[in-house]
Amino acid sequence: MARKSHRSGSLSPTDFPSRRTSSLVLLVSLILLALSAFSSGHDYHEALHKSILFFEGQRSGKLPPDQRLRWRRDSALRDGASVGVDLTGGYYDAGDNLKFGFPMAFTTTLLSWSVIDFGRSMGSEVHNAVEAVKWATDYLLKATAVPDVVYVQVGDAYSDHNCWERPEDMDTLRTVSKVDRAHPGSDVVGETAAALAAASIVFRSRDPAYSRLLLDRAVMVFEFADRYRGAYSTSLRKADELLWGAAWLHKATRRREYREYIVRNEVILRAADTINEFGWDNKHAGINVLISKEVLMGKADDLRSFKFNADGFICSLLPGISHPQVQYSPGGLIFKAGGSNMQHVTALSFLLLAYSNYLSHANHDVPCGQVSASPALLRQLAKRQVDYILGDNPLKMSYMVGYGTHYPQRIHHRASSLPSVQAHPAHIGCKAGSRYYLSPNPNPNLLVGAVVGGPNVSDAFPDSRPFFKESEPTTYINAPLVGLLAYFSAHP
Ligand SMILES: *[C@@H]1O[C@H](CO)[C@@H](O)[C@H](O)[C@H]1NC(C)=O
Repeated sequence: MARKSHRSGSLSPTDFPSRRTSSLVLLVSLILLALSAFSSGHDYHEALHKSILFFEGQRSGKLPPDQRLRWRRDSALRDGASVGVDLTGGYYDAGDNLKFGFPMAFTTTLLSWSVIDFGRSMGSEVHNAVEAVKWATDYLLKATAVPDVVYVQVGDAYSDHNCWERPEDMDTLRTVSKVDRAHPGSDVVGETAAALAAASIVFRSRDPAYSRLLLDRAVMVFEFADRYRGAYSTSLRKADELLWGAAWLHKATRRREYREYIVRNEVILRAADTINEFGWDNKHAGINVLISKEVLMGKADDLRSFKFNADGFICSLLPGISHPQVQYSPGGLIFKAGGSNMQHVTALSFLLLAYSNYLSHANHDVPCGQVSASPALLRQLAKRQVDYILGDNPLKMSYMVGYGTHYPQRIHHRASSLPSVQAHPAHIGCKAGSRYYLSPNPNPNLLVGAVVGGPNVSDAFPDSRPFFKESEPTTYINAPLVGLLAYFSAHP
């Protein structure tokens, strides 16, 4: 729970390099990038296929007959019953058996963005990607069915983390948490509105009736988030999710009121000190990139400051030329302190790629002080991160389970590490799972496509269940990766 309610820290400042060093460093990194472009031989389509399959392993509720990951079974079929509502379904967001509405909604938004921007590069996988979105939105529709109420969590973190149990055996507390008028949560509700609005675009031509249902609900949920302001996350100060929700609603509806809302509330963003962050608990950089598309298309001069900030964010990711700058490991991986580093790697790389495409269409570069970065450079930077994940790293290790020959064997994931129901039909109780948790043996069930938290800042990886910061997969690591892999499978 603690790690789900804490916001990540701000960037640490580095020395500002001189002009001459800047251009030199950029030149060097350009050459390195050009060389690395020829060295990788990854099967991005296979990785894409697996990155989507992962979501089936995270499914909660009654599994459908076409479930492909066969070692999982139905679970948590009474979620919501304690408060008289149906909250079955949705995703377990990581290696435990909790359903957190906030990261689940962010996962849905990013999966949707992946399909919206890169669906045409997915080939036969687009169907599976859309199904992965729908598994989440079917749940979010249940969680938002009552006006001015949003169910935001099922399960009790203490009770759950105290056990090592299969979801199919779960007998821990399934406490239901909600936000309502008396206990508002503009952050989690704003993200839920963003998720529903983004998904409505995914289904617009595929299933118009479902798309309308999602969009109507997004509008209603956003109104609730905006009218009853307050924060669900304890450390939250400003609800950047309100702007994020408005930006997605504007994209989905093209209604002027959301555009005006963004202009009016821009100050929410400007007041923040973590402008270059993007993840389930911080939307700043994502908002700037999303809105910049409109600016680059020449449709939104009143929103120019968002592009200015998106440019600043992009510059902060370029090795060696700006201040403040994101940290890289010696092996070349973006690194942010706090654990589950791959969530930052995939989310930031996604923004690099999305922005590079918006820039390409408008024939623009990013001005970074004395130099400028081309869309091609942004794409190469994003590709370098993806290639690191797939095995181009000092350990020659793929951080995606089931991809390549050398990948994590002992991921921090209850269902993957305990014997499957088919292999071991008898109940395995709360503490009876400990021996599987502590075992040095590989996990018996391959959670294909799961990408783990990843190596530490020195490119070292323990491959050990207790090291959850390194070895736990999450849905919000994979969601942006789906878009990245789709693009590179069509443009290797
Ligand atoms: C990274 O992990 C390796 C191996 O577990 C360890 O020796 C090293 O101290 C770690 N580095 C940092 C900075 O934590």
